[in-house]
This record gives sequence, C-alpha cells and structure tokens, in this order.
Amino acid sequence: MREVKIGLVGFGNVGRELVRQLLAREYIIAERFSIRFSIVFIADSKGVLYGTPTIRKDLLEKALDVPRGAISSLKGGIRGELACSAVEKVGPDVVVEVTPSVYDLNAPALENVDVALENGADVVLANKAPLALRYEYFMKKAVSLGCRIFFKACIMAGTPLVDFIMYGLRGREIGSLVGILNGTTNYVLGLIEEGLSFREAVKRAVVEGYAEPNYTTDLEGIDLAAKASILYSLSMKPISINNVIIENKIDGSIEEIIKDAKLKRLKVKYVAVLFRNEAPRVKLITLSEENVMAQVKGVQNCVKIRTLDESEMLLMGPGAGRRVTALTLLSDLLLSAHKVRGGRD
Ligand code: HSE
Repeated sequence: MREVKIGLVGFGNVGRELVRQLLAREYIIAERFSIRFSIVFIADSKGVLYGTPTIRKDLLEKALDVPRGAISSLKGGIRGELACSAVEKVGPDVVVEVTPSVYDLNAPALENVDVALENGADVVLANKAPLALRYEYFMKKAVSLGCRIFFKACIMAGTPLVDFIMYGLRGREIGSLVGILNGTTNYVLGLIEEGLSFREAVKRAVVEGYAEPNYTTDLEGIDLAAKASILYSLSMKPISINNVIIENKIDGSIEEIIKDAKLKRLKVKYVAVLFRNEAPRVKLITLSEENVMAQVKGVQNCVKIRTLDESEMLLMGPGAGRRVTALTLLSDLLLSAHKVRGGRD
C-alpha cells in the first residue's frame, strides 16, 4: 500500500465533496489501486488546518461541518496561515487547488501552483485561472521540475474531455472544436426556453450550485473563455484567456433572442469556438432543433471535435456540479498517484 499525501487548498462545495468522496471510497481505492490518500493539510481563505502528520478521519468529519472560512478554528488549525506556507512546511505529494477561479495574475492560486511545483508536488486543478492565464509557463515549469499538472476538472467537470484529447487523440491534430462548455448558461437558456424569465433562471442556477461564486463570470462568458483558452493551449497552441474574443454575453436581452429563435424552430446555444490559427471565440449561435448539440440540456456539456485527418467526434456529459467535479478530481489524483513520469508530452 502506498501512501499519497494530499494538500487541499480550497474548502467550499467542491473541496468538501472531494473529502466526502475520499472518505467514502477509501476501501475501494486501497483494494483496486493499493493507494491510501491522506490529507496533510486543508487551507481555506482564512487559515490552515494541519494534520499530525495526517488529518484523521474523525477530524475530517468535523471539518465537513464547520462554516466556510473556519477550518483553522479546529484543533491543529492556524488562523492567518497561507496555503503556500503549508505546502512549504509539509511537502505534500500532490496539491489540489479548488479555490474559486480569479483571473488575475496576482491571485493566490497562481502562487500556490508555483510553490507546489517548486516543492516537488504534482498539482490537481479545478481552479481554471492558473492555466487560463499562464498555461505555457506552468506546463514548462512542471516538466522542468519533474512534476505534473492535472486539470480534467477544469473543463466539462464530470466528463473526461481533457484525457480524451491528451491521451485519446495523442499524435493527431485538432482542426476545430465547438463546445457547449458552460453548464450554468446552458441551464439558464433551457429554463428561459421553458418560459422562465432571465432573472428567475439565473436565480435557480445559483441555488442549484452550478454557477461560479460570482455568477457574472458565467453570464459574461469569462468561464467559457477560460475553458476555451485552456483547450486551445492543450490542443493547438498556448494562449491566454485575455486573447479569447467574447462576442456575446448573456443578459436580459436573451429572452427576446430565444423567443425569435423559437418562432424559427431554432435553439440558441452559448459556445466556445476554436479554429486552428484563429483566436478562440465565445458566442451565441442558433442551431436547428435536429442538431445533436441543440439537444444538450441542463448542465450537460457537449463538444464537437474535428481533426485534421477529417474525423468528427462528439463527446457529451455532465459539465457542472460538485459531485461530478469531485469525482473527476479523484480520477486525476489517481493518475498523479501513478508515478509514471514524463509520459505527458
Ligand atoms: N460555473 C461552471 C459552469 C462550473 O457552469 O460550467 C463548471 O466549470
């Protein structure tokens, strides 16, 4: 049995769900993979909870009940302590970064990734900001330090698009990719189609927990742009979110747009569009009702990929939600736990 030490940064919906899944699947993971994951610290926005040296099950269960920002109030907690200090002190094997995505080069998440790599840890991300802003920098740094960055949970949350491209399409070139990649807006568009107002639909998406903590990130296309930039970097060439063109946002005017489309038997979708050698775009499109992508409902995501060898592929599946995101993080943790280095690029 090999022990893998996890440093968990971010203890909101997704971070907590990951802990629940790790606890619930402890025996299956041990039996199938001969791996024991132990959490050595949990950091939230206000401090850090340390283990002795790992956080025991009873303390993890208690942690799940503390309010947000209060993890350091538990025994072993240090209020005011930063996640990157915890990484330096403890030296985990892998750092899971699941704080909200803040698209600012000075955001703490970028420093957390830097420090994790410098301390020899792999990184597992649900936070999109580090790679949306600095994909090339972080990937080069990881390779030079013998570490890896896993980011399957950043895009299509519960559907392994990143693995599909990285492993399944290895050695082939993607010519274009069109995707419904924001669950919240797809859910909102669907509710408006059913007759809800824009406001009511957004409120429901927030209550369901699909939206980003600041839901304007979803509505203004920033979340889609982040995903577009990461996918473009992965499959074409490195690009920053700042170079993604956002053609449309979702606001109150969408009610009229959907009404008009309905009269023409068309469906409105909010998509990321990537073509090789062109800047990625985020925009509203209309599709005939028979189009497969037009039938993608709720927080489902769907991506259509065309390779330069003229194959067309479609991948559809869950795109948002704490449980599917946590399960995808778990898959990346298992990939990280297999110490096959240098197999990425
Ligand atoms: N807010 C995002 C979405 C969460 O709705 O797609 C998953 O990235």
